[in-house]
Amino acid sequence: MRRSLGETVALDIFGADGLWHVEADPIRLEAAILNLAVNARDAMAEGGKLTITTSNSFLDEDYCRHNEELVAGQYVRIAVSDTGTGMPKDILERVFEPFFTTKVAGQGTGLGLSQVYGFVKQSSGHIQIDSEPGEGTIVKIYLPRLLGEIGNDQTPEREGVAHVAQTILLVEDDHDVRAYVVEILRELHYRVLEAHDADSALGIVDRNDVQVDLLLTDVVLPGMNGRQLAEALKVRQPEIRVLFMSGYSRDAIVHQGRLDPGVELMQKPLTQEIVEEKIRAILDSARWPRQQLKEKTRPRPLRGTD
Ligand SMILES: Nc1ncnc2c1ncn2[C@@H]1O[C@H](COP(=O)(O)OP(=O)(O)OP(=O)(O)O)[C@@H](O)[C@H]1O
Ligand SMILES: [Mg+2]
Repeated sequence: MRRSLGETVALDIFGADGLWHVEADPIRLEAAILNLAVNARDAMAEGGKLTITTSNSFLDEDYCRHNEELVAGQYVRIAVSDTGTGMPKDILERVFEPFFTTKVAGQGTGLGLSQVYGFVKQSSGHIQIDSEPGEGTIVKIYLPRLLGEIGNDQTPEREGVAHVAQTILLVEDDHDVRAYVVEILRELHYRVLEAHDADSALGIVDRNDVQVDLLLTDVVLPGMNGRQLAEALKVRQPEIRVLFMSGYSRDAIVHQGRLDPGVELMQKPLTQEIVEEKIRAILDSARWPRQQLKEKTRPRPLRGTD
């Protein structure tokens, strides 16, 4: 980046401590930041200062009201600001348009910001630009916080399969089974929180104040069992869906011969097909609150392009 900026532009980077994790394609993220830096450089022909800051950030309902695609919550913010020319309103309104450029032919294709925009949207994020002539520009990218463990899956999402990740809380005391199921779920691009018993599951939910779309739990757990855990969670989040895994008969879960509404059972041993099919059936049909409020952001079927 320093090489791209040249001698006349100073660069400051302030990275926050304890920054949350996000899930994004690292190559496209790097390209986005570089794009913004080059734009900033071009706006500072006489020299100036480029500042990049990262921070944890909360977008509240009030902020999100103006943007129907945006879901309130925790985001990591990357801000790129410059002390350059800034932009009048009529230009600012058009910067995300593909091929929109104010640069002379050969110096800009006008694709930079439209690519940044595409990347941010694909990552379920948000971008905001503040700029005024003579006052410089600040571009803020918000990427949704990733809760749970960090996978090392480097595969980029398939083209056109952008969706808002749903969150699954997986509770299973058998380490191998848990690892197996986590892998399947991550491959399906769900956000996964994992716990080995009910107490730590409740702890994760309470500490992070996280909305769980589906509780996927073993019935038999050390201490509080799966059914008690489900009840405790329903008090906190009445909309939560529950899927039990059990190697035993239905007796431990079934009330008077039937399952409670919103509760499903998956018989062990588990296979990838069973897990996929069952989870999809539940979550793709789930009317969880965020979808009701923001119908437009409803995730498309995860394998819609197959
Ligand atoms: N930091 C900035 N300061 C002032 N104007 C900017 C800034 N960033 C973008 N712009 C304006 O937005 C326009 C579009 O930017 P965009 O990055 O999409 O294309 P470009 O820089 O013109 O070309 P390319 O990025 O494809 O080389 C620019 O031509 C410029 O007018
Ligand atoms: Mg550009």
